[in-house]
Amino acid sequence: MMMNNRPWRVAVIGCGMFANAQYLPNIKKEANAECVAVCDIVPERAQQACRKYGIPEWYASVEELIEKCDFDIAIDVASIQAHHEINMAILGAGKHLISQKPAASTVEELTEQIELAKSKSVKFVCVPIHPMRYDINVAKQMIHDGVIGEPTYIKCNMEHGGPEYFQYRDADPSWFFEKGAGALVDMGVHGLQIVTTLFGPVKSISCLAAVTDGERTVRSGAYNGLKMKTDIIPDEYMICLTFKNGKIGFVDTGFSQKATKTPQLEIYGREGTISFTKPYMENKRPDVYMDCPQRGIRGWISTESWESIPKKLISQCCCLRDIIDAIEGDCEPVLTPEHARHILEIMCKIPDAIESGCTVQMKTEF
Ligand SMILES: NC(=O)c1ccc[n+]([C@@H]2O[C@H](COP(=O)([O-])OP(=O)(O)OC[C@H]3O[C@@H](n4cnc5c(N)ncnc54)[C@H](O)[C@@H]3O)[C@@H](O)[C@H]2O)c1
Repeated sequence: MMMNNRPWRVAVIGCGMFANAQYLPNIKKEANAECVAVCDIVPERAQQACRKYGIPEWYASVEELIEKCDFDIAIDVASIQAHHEINMAILGAGKHLISQKPAASTVEELTEQIELAKSKSVKFVCVPIHPMRYDINVAKQMIHDGVIGEPTYIKCNMEHGGPEYFQYRDADPSWFFEKGAGALVDMGVHGLQIVTTLFGPVKSISCLAAVTDGERTVRSGAYNGLKMKTDIIPDEYMICLTFKNGKIGFVDTGFSQKATKTPQLEIYGREGTISFTKPYMENKRPDVYMDCPQRGIRGWISTESWESIPKKLISQCCCLRDIIDAIEGDCEPVLTPEHARHILEIMCKIPDAIESGCTVQMKTEF
């Protein structure tokens, strides 16, 4: 497909915490791209982003952005509940799209988006970005090369203390605890993407969940001190997974760990363990324990000289590089919407698993 000598023109939709932390400051650093417009239903936030990052245009609605702005790629980083409507509008307008998670609230909606992207011949990338991570790719390669022998199970701890506690934002964080959002779609999505990146599609799930804190107080930012009722949806999930390959996994996720010393991710094999001891983006490479009596090794080893290492990530705006590679090479992105749909199906079926206390079967693949 076409190669672009001039920078790709990007529009960022939603100018909240994440756009300011990861996308707006990194667009030029991550790819041959520039931000030509921002959009937020709160105009002051869009105007503020324009001033801060020298962006020429701002809009208060996606419709106006589509009508008036000349852009190639949109990044939807608005509140979770707004994603489906925004994504359908962007894809329908024939623009390439990166969607923040979850891209939709049901599998059917995301299928609608995937089909629309195909019919418009545009590229569609869904984050999180874990399959692009250097350390995850190193672990994947190690598993493939038999460093820990036959892998047996995987365990992921994906938690923080809550968006009102852990993150600074000027926007009101109440929406994180409302229907359609919540800890599962905000945090669980990361754990589920990581374990499926390493162990593949899931066959069945079961889950325990609880509300650990039914009233929270915002602890930073413009809404510091605001009390919120947070008892509508669970803030703690313990998800058990059986993968299609017969192996098992566990994802502990939620807004209920103010601090932890648990490794974020461990992969166990018959001959060793791969351990991620630091939060993601901070792991240089995972720690590895090998039990290899033939070579006289029984202990934690250094993984310094691994070959074919993927590029190191600068920021979570690396997804822009992924979509531009897919556009320029006319190929599939690494961060496919089909993988996102599989994770969405898990998240949509978790309430059934909790309520019934039974194991629930999966349908989608990636
Ligand atoms: N590590 C991660 O991957 C990570 C971390 C935090 C947030 N996120 C994701 O980023 C997205 C935004 O989260 P945030 O923390 O920045 O939230 P936020 O509340 O700080 O910002 C959301 C912004 O979207 C705007 N908005 C809402 N509806 C809109 C619409 N229809 N059109 C345009 N703008 C609209 C709001 O006014 C607000 O400014 C969510 O999807 C969230 O899941 C990802």
